[in-house]
Amino acid sequence: MCGIVGYLGERPAASTILDGLRALEYRGYDSAGLAVLTPDGLEVRRCAGRISDLAPLVEDAHLTGSIGVGHTRWATHGAVTDDNAHPHADASGRLVIVHNGMTDNVDELRAELLADGHQFSSETDTEVIAHLIGVERDRGAELPDALGRALQRLVGAHSVAVLAADEPDMLAAGRIGAAGGLVVGHNGCGAILASDLPAVVRHTRKVQIVQAGEVVSLRRRAAEFRRLDNRPVTRGLITVPWDPVAAAKAGHRHFMHKEIHEQPETLAETIRPRVTLDPPELRLDDFRLPTDARQIDRAVIVASGTSHIAGMVGARYLRELARLPAATEIASEFAYAPGPLTRRTLVIAVSQSGETADVLVAVQRAHAAGAPVAALVNTVGSELTRMADAVLPLHAGPEVSVAATKTFTSELGAFYLLACQLAQQRGACTQAQFERRIAAIAHAPIAVARALDVEPQVEELARRFHRCKNFLFLGRGLGHPVALEGALKLKEISYIHAEGFAAGELKHGPIALIDPDMPVVAVALDDDDVRAKTLNAVAQIRSRDGRVILVASDADDLRGDLAEHVVRVPRTAPLIAPLVGVVPLQLFAYHMAVRLGLDVDQPRNLAKSVTVE
Ligand code: F6R
Repeated sequence: MCGIVGYLGERPAASTILDGLRALEYRGYDSAGLAVLTPDGLEVRRCAGRISDLAPLVEDAHLTGSIGVGHTRWATHGAVTDDNAHPHADASGRLVIVHNGMTDNVDELRAELLADGHQFSSETDTEVIAHLIGVERDRGAELPDALGRALQRLVGAHSVAVLAADEPDMLAAGRIGAAGGLVVGHNGCGAILASDLPAVVRHTRKVQIVQAGEVVSLRRRAAEFRRLDNRPVTRGLITVPWDPVAAAKAGHRHFMHKEIHEQPETLAETIRPRVTLDPPELRLDDFRLPTDARQIDRAVIVASGTSHIAGMVGARYLRELARLPAATEIASEFAYAPGPLTRRTLVIAVSQSGETADVLVAVQRAHAAGAPVAALVNTVGSELTRMADAVLPLHAGPEVSVAATKTFTSELGAFYLLACQLAQQRGACTQAQFERRIAAIAHAPIAVARALDVEPQVEELARRFHRCKNFLFLGRGLGHPVALEGALKLKEISYIHAEGFAAGELKHGPIALIDPDMPVVAVALDDDDVRAKTLNAVAQIRSRDGRVILVASDADDLRGDLAEHVVRVPRTAPLIAPLVGVVPLQLFAYHMAVRLGLDVDQPRNLAKSVTVE
C-alpha cells in the first residue's frame, strides 16, 4: 500500500525521488521520507504528512548525491508520526530501508532483537527489518544476500529497498508474498525502482518486474535478479503501453474529474479494438480462456470495492448473455471460505491495480482448488496479470485518483465482451442476438459521452445537498450495483454516510429511515418491469416526505411530481444502462467533495492499491 522509489544515475537523487513519490502518492499519504547518499554519508529527511510537506525539508537540505530511496506511507504498524516515517536505519546507521508490507511476526522478531541489545526509535515493523538486514551484514553477507536472508524471516507480503553507505553504486530490493509490486527500469542516464509504473514510465517504458521471492541488485546500467536462495534468474523486459503524459491532469482541477470525463475514450479503448460491426465480429486477441468454454459449469467473480460492484454487473452479463450460472464474491470473504470449486468453475478476478492483496489471496485459493483463473486487470505487469491463467486487459490507462471511476466503466465493458464471447463459444446465442449485442456495446461510449452533459445540473444538486449528513441510494436489477457504486463514491471522497441497497428491500426496513433529512438517490434505468417497480419505491418515499433525486432515462415519461429532482441520461439497451447510469453518481460524489473543500484525489485513510489483507 505504501509507495517505494529508488534511484541511482546521473540526475540529482533527491529531486528525482520526490518526483517519483508524487507519482505514487495515491498509494498512501500519511507520511513521506527519503534518504540520499551524500559525500557526508547517508542523509535522511522524513515527516508525517504528504510529499508537499517533505519537499521543503528536502530542498532546504540541498542534498548532493545521485543514489537514494524514498517512501510514501500508508500507516500499518505505528501511528502517523515523524518517527514512524520511512526510511528506517539499522542499528549502526550505515544502511536505510523503505518498505511496503505488514509483518505478521513482528513481535517475535522485535523481541529477539531486543534480547540481543537492539534499540528501536519507532513503532514500525520496518525498523525491525532494517535491523535484521544489519545483523546479516555484520555476519558478512553482501547487501542483496543480507536482504534476501532477512526477507526469509518475515511472515506476510513485503517489498523492501535498501541503500547502504558502503555500497555507493547499488540499490538492493526484494519481494516476498503475493502483494506489493516492484518494478525496475533503465534509461541512458540511470536506473529507477518503484512500487508501481507511474513512477517509472516518466524515465522509461521498458521495465523489468521483480517477482515474489526475488532480490534484485540494481546498478546504473543493469539489474541482476536472484531468488532468495541465491539462484540467478533471467528476467525479460516488458514494454509498458502507457503514455506518461496521460497521467497528468490535462487542465482538470482533479484527476478524478479528468478520469470521469475520459470515460468515453477509455471505454472505447476497452471495446473498440476488439469489436467490428462490419462484418460483426468480436476478437479478444490478447485473451485465451484457460479452459474449454463448453466445459465451464459456473463462474465465480472475485474482487474488492468498486471492482466487486463491477463484478455484480459482470455476473448478470454472464448469466444473461452467456447463460452461464455466475455469482460475485467479495475477495476477502472468498479467500477464507471459497466454497466448492472444481476444474469446471471459472474464477474471474477483477482489479484495477492488479495488486489488491485480498484478490491475490483469493486467486491463490482458486488455484489451490484446481479452478482456472481469468483476470480483468487495468495495470499491465501487475501481480494479478502474472498469477492469472488468462488476462483481459482493460486498456483504461493509468487511474491516479484514489476513487475508481473510468476503470469501473471499463470493467463493465470488458465483462460485456467476455460474456458475448462465452455466449458464442457455448452456443448460447443466435447470430442475430450476437450482432445486436455487440452493436449495443459499440455505441456505449457515445451514450457515456452524452451522460456527461448532466454535469451542470449535478453540480447544482451538490450545491443544494452538500450539507446533508446521510444519503440512501437505491436501485433494482442492474440499478442496484449502480446505487451501491454511487454510495461508495460519495462516502469515500466526501465522508458523508451513504448506504446503497436494492430498491425492493426498502419496504423491508430502510423505509423507517425516510424523512426530509435523509435524501434518496434512486436509479431507475433497467427494463420496463424493473423500472416500474423502482418508481413504486420512489412514490413510497415521496408519500413520506422523503426527498428524491431520480436518475432516469431521457426517454421516460415521468409524472411531474414523482421526484424532487430528475437527472436524465441517454436511453440505452437495458444491459448497457449501468455504464451511463453511474456517470451522474460519480459527478455527484465529485462535486459534493469539491463543495466541502475536501481532498478529492487523496481521501483520508485510503490508498489506491490495497496491498495488505
Ligand atoms: C473505490 C476504490 C476501491 C477499489 C478497491 C479494489 O473507489 O477505488 O474500492 O475499487 O480497493 O481495488 P482494485 O480494483 O485495484 O483491486
